Amino acid sequence: MKPQEASAERISTSENLRGVILAGGLGTRLHPLTKVTSKHLLPVGNEPMIFHCVKQLTSAGVTDILVVTNPEYVGDFVKVLGGGAEFGCEFTYRVQEEARGIAHALALAEGFAAGGKIVVLLGDNVFESPIRPAVADFLAQGEGARVMLKRVPDPARYGVAVLDGNRIVAIEEKPPHPKSDYAVVGVYFYDAAVFDIIRTVEPSARGEYEITAVNNVYLCRGMLDYSIVRGKWVDAGTFDALTEAHHILLERIPD
Ligand code: G1P
Repeated sequence: MKPQEASAERISTSENLRGVILAGGLGTRLHPLTKVTSKHLLPVGNEPMIFHCVKQLTSAGVTDILVVTNPEYVGDFVKVLGGGAEFGCEFTYRVQEEARGIAHALALAEGFAAGGKIVVLLGDNVFESPIRPAVADFLAQGEGARVMLKRVPDPARYGVAVLDGNRIVAIEEKPPHPKSDYAVVGVYFYDAAVFDIIRTVEPSARGEYEITAVNNVYLCRGMLDYSIVRGKWVDAGTFDALTEAHHILLERIPD
């Protein structure tokens, strides 16, 4: 690809899709590391964890990025990330006053999305491979939503896709008896309908506005597609997972 073609592709992707990184929450499972900072600022590989999400987005051509944090550490995120020039992107920041779930945090992105499509990353999800192919699939899909699935040995910890052949028929949030070993990872693609859907969601038994409830609305409408995660994936919310995330980023072969 010639340089001018690469930059043309970048502009068209970022114009069509904005990125949201959700980096709030309390990170209590990582105490005492998270007593004085956010989980998303802890070192993974040789960088603060959130750099990984930023680079996943920019390498997929997504350069307009909203970072949602809790109020306590927003200043630290701004210090570490700045305006975005270092990453070739532009950051916007919003504060989630209360930790009431992923869908609750995502609601803060409505103005930023400005009626367009978004890709949402949970700031503690670390991938060995680029998410770029899924970004391209979503842009080609037209309307609706897209999730990404990964086979895992411990599906009860995650949102789990119930499959009928190649079709998702339901997503269950942390089911005690998972019906498959396909976890729904923390990357979600949505069209502009997502914000109206969030307004219809009720809090779950654990008192959170679940992203799984949002995805199930798209599913009922026949508008949820999926991509399979290539390579390793980890939700770095526990000590073991944080160590694994560290190895994934230090050992991966740059693409
Ligand atoms: C969240 C989602 C879950 C998803 C997971 C991926 O869980 O609720 O569906 O599988 O992220 O990281 P949490 O990490 O908030 O427990």
